[in-house]
Amino acid sequence: MTSETGTGTDIAAGAGRRRGEPLPHDLLDDAERLSREQLRELQLDRLRRSLRHAYDHVETYRKKFDAAGITPEDCRSLEDLARFPFTTKADLRDTYPFGMFAVPMDRVRRVHASSGTTGRPTVVGYTENDLSMWSDLVARSIRAAGGRPGHKVHISYGYGLFTGGLGAHYGAERAGCTVIPASGGMTARQVQIIQDFRPEIIMVTPSYMLTLLDEFERQGVDPRTSSLRVGIFGAEPWTEEMRREIEDRMDLHAVDIYGLSEVIGPGVAQECVETKDGLHVWEDHFYPEVVDPITGEVLPEGEEGELVFTSLTKEALPVVRYRTRDLTRLLPGTARPAFRRIQKITGRCDDMIILRGVNVFPSQIEEIVLRTPGVAPHFQIQLTRRGRLDHMTVRVETRPGTGPDAREAAARSIAQAVKDGVGVSAEVAIVEPETLERSLGKLRRVKDLRED
Ligand code: DLL
Repeated sequence: MTSETGTGTDIAAGAGRRRGEPLPHDLLDDAERLSREQLRELQLDRLRRSLRHAYDHVETYRKKFDAAGITPEDCRSLEDLARFPFTTKADLRDTYPFGMFAVPMDRVRRVHASSGTTGRPTVVGYTENDLSMWSDLVARSIRAAGGRPGHKVHISYGYGLFTGGLGAHYGAERAGCTVIPASGGMTARQVQIIQDFRPEIIMVTPSYMLTLLDEFERQGVDPRTSSLRVGIFGAEPWTEEMRREIEDRMDLHAVDIYGLSEVIGPGVAQECVETKDGLHVWEDHFYPEVVDPITGEVLPEGEEGELVFTSLTKEALPVVRYRTRDLTRLLPGTARPAFRRIQKITGRCDDMIILRGVNVFPSQIEEIVLRTPGVAPHFQIQLTRRGRLDHMTVRVETRPGTGPDAREAAARSIAQAVKDGVGVSAEVAIVEPETLERSLGKLRRVKDLRED
């Protein structure tokens, strides 16, 4: 669906498509009405308190600030934050499970944990106020995506220690919506439920949305006839090409939601449906910086680097300059003028494949595969070592009914586009439909078969 701006629902225009509706002013919350100047004042006040809270109650911060010879009161402007030390996942791991909590355990109402594919999981905690702030921000995000009280929200993010399911759940309730808590898995049943309950909104990873779309088609249902009008997709990187693929097959608005457990979970930043031009960071609660991933130096607005967050109001687990490893750039606000945007995340520093000296992101391969006719949007990147050379194979599923010549042409076209656009040689293997692993939540695009 194209990102037109306009008011009202315009089903008559185009092939039954609807326009994104800017939010009526009475649905904005107080912070969304602040001017940039007012927001900055609020941020500085909250930042100073939050640094003091972290210093007073978390040994890790006390030691780091002391070692850097800095006190919370040295932060006299928002720019002064750059003088404070960074926090990383390693700090959370070193104090596993609860060592960085800044409140006594009897004030912690809930914990979540990251999946911990490498090493120990990281555990995060929330007080009552933290949970309430989180729900408010997910509710704000749902409204920015076009959700309204009375809408039904089908949630296919996994429920459990992952923040996706429960974060979306309480936010949707706070927004006055009716929640359908489907969680991940049981794909055939999810499609049935969507058909029967007729939700307007779905919250799910984009890769699992593709799995659901295939299931609609397998059941002989045209997904364009479904009740879904808005998809709020996040928890993994996805490209503009993926947006087009999903919007074309489903006739809904696909918008991006971003977050990470250490900061709160989903709802740190959200794309507005009327502009679809990157994600507004909810800066009244999280202060963003973009830094050079190698030197740590703060980069000016517009330059790409690693996203870093400082929480401004969190009680149980305040974070000071937390390095997300996510790569993006900061941009000025548009649909919510006071809140800066982040560009759609390109990838993570640690997802980057270095192949014979060239940096490759899975999102670059996604853009190419999704532009290629004759292949499905399902692909996997395999890394192997032959002799002393690393080798990349892109395995892509063909669409049913594609003949051998068209397959051959698709393989050649992908290999050429990877060579021209990314600058590396890759082998392309076109595989049969339905043979690659399907996502049930966050998808792992890269299979690294090199032994070290
Ligand atoms: O994935 C929280 C979340 C749940 C966000 C549901 C959105 C929707 P973690 O499991 O801690 O938390 O993983 C955080 O996922 O640092 C990014 O690398 C990636 N990520 C999250 N949202 C996006 C997005 C949740 N919209 C990590 N685009 C982050 C790209 C994303 N990457």
